Amino acid sequence: MDGPAPELTQALPLAGRELLADGYSFVHAEVLQRALSDAGAADWEGFAASWDALGQDQYMADGGRYRSRRFAAFTVSADTVARKPHQPHYQSRDYNRLNGGIARWFEPVTDAIAAHPTTNAIVRVCNTLFTRLTPQERRPRAWHVELHQFRIAASAAAEGRPTPEGMHRDGVDWVLVLLVRRENVASGVTLIADGAGARVGSFTLAAPMDAALVDDRRVQHGVTAIHPLDPSRPAWRDVLVLTFRYE
Ligand SMILES: [Fe+2]
Repeated sequence: MDGPAPELTQALPLAGRELLADGYSFVHAEVLQRALSDAGAADWEGFAASWDALGQDQYMADGGRYRSRRFAAFTVSADTVARKPHQPHYQSRDYNRLNGGIARWFEPVTDAIAAHPTTNAIVRVCNTLFTRLTPQERRPRAWHVELHQFRIAASAAAEGRPTPEGMHRDGVDWVLVLLVRRENVASGVTLIADGAGARVGSFTLAAPMDAALVDDRRVQHGVTAIHPLDPSRPAWRDVLVLTFRYE
C-alpha cells in the first residue's frame, strides 16, 4: 500500500486545520462518526460495553479509588496496526508529577477490543490525520501508539478526577480523547492551555463520540472534576485516550 486510502486522507479536514492553527480541536460526534464509519467502524455498543469490565488503577498517589482502566500499545503505520507485547505505561515526572516516575502495569485491553473494528477505525483515522499534520521530514516510519480505556467514577461522597495531575502534557506528539459514555455526570469540562499555562479553550465532551484532538507539543490539557447529577445514583465518565509518539 502506498499510503492511506483516499477517503481517509479527507478524514476530519476541519479538525486538521484547527490543530494547525490552535493546537487543539473539539470534534463533534456526528463528524467523527462519519469518519469512523468510512474507516470501517462497527458495533459501537459492544465497543462501549467493554468499559464495564476495566481494572482498578492501583497507582493513584492521591489514594483515590475512582479510576479504572485498561492499556495496550501498538505500532501503527499507513498499512499496519499491530499490537505490541503488553508493557508498562511510563510517564516521567516532568509530565506527571503526581503519578509519573514509575513504570505502571495496567490490565491489558482485551484481544476483542484491541482487534475491534471501531478500535481499528479510530486508530486509522488518527494515523491519517496526525501523519498528515506532521512535517514530512519528521514523519516516523511507524508511530508508537498507546491506547487507554478509562472510567472515572463519582459519588455524592467523592468527586472523580479525570486528570488528578491537573493541567498537563502527556509527553507525546498527538493525543485523542474520545468520550464513550457519560452516566449521571455533572461538569467534567475539558480545558486547554498554551505552553505558558494561559487558558486557550474549554469545552465539554458531552455526547458519545465527541472528541478532543491535541497537539501535545503545543498545548496542555486537563479535565475538571466530575460529580453526580443525581447524588443518589452512581456516576461515571468513560473515555478512550490514544497517544501517538514518534518511535
Ligand atoms: Fe493527558
